[in-house]
Amino acid sequence: MDFFDTVARRHSIRAFRDVEVEREKIDRILETINHAPSAGDLQAYQVYLVHSRRQRLALAHAALDQMFISEAPVVLVFCATPQRSAIKYGQRGEQLYALQDATIACAYAQLATSTLGLGAAWVGSFDEDAVRRAIGAPGDEIPIAILPVGYPAEAPGWTPRRSLRDLVREV
Ligand SMILES: Cc1cc2nc3c(=O)[nH]c(=O)nc-3n(C[C@H](O)[C@H](O)[C@H](O)COP(=O)(O)O)c2cc1C
Repeated sequence: MDFFDTVARRHSIRAFRDVEVEREKIDRILETINHAPSAGDLQAYQVYLVHSRRQRLALAHAALDQMFISEAPVVLVFCATPQRSAIKYGQRGEQLYALQDATIACAYAQLATSTLGLGAAWVGSFDEDAVRRAIGAPGDEIPIAILPVGYPAEAPGWTPRRSLRDLVREV
């Protein structure tokens, strides 16, 4: 699919078919993540690839009972690793770049899912400690986003956006 079509046709998917995602597609998503830019090329984040139903359920509960997370056959969790960026960039790396690195990585993953005919929804509403417990992440990693991935079982329509006139200030 053309890049602009991919972007325009992507919608959050919160219902998934009971079908596994092929390993080749998962690998394409992971490779796409690895192409994402990061501050100083430090890639100050960790990606968790979650398959087990037990852990997907724990993530759904950690995300304030957003149960569609557990229905996706595979779930990606993006955690910022501030210390990795702090080594080179100090406080700015720790407080900003690591979060941005993880965010960009998740955005790349979400676009890759659309290109591959898969669906995903960015989940940012969760209890950080509960997410860490669900995936066994250490205390110095900051969960940034949960991305449940699977074949869509819904076809949501267009969601409203601000006008470019409002969004962009040409200075
Ligand atoms: C930072 C962030 C946090 C979000 N958190 C949630 C969430 O916790 N649960 C959810 O269902 N959707 C969540 N979303 C998805 C948005 O609701 C969705 O992207 C937005 O409504 C636009 O719809 P679209 O993705 O279909 O274009 C989040 C998106 C972002 C970028």
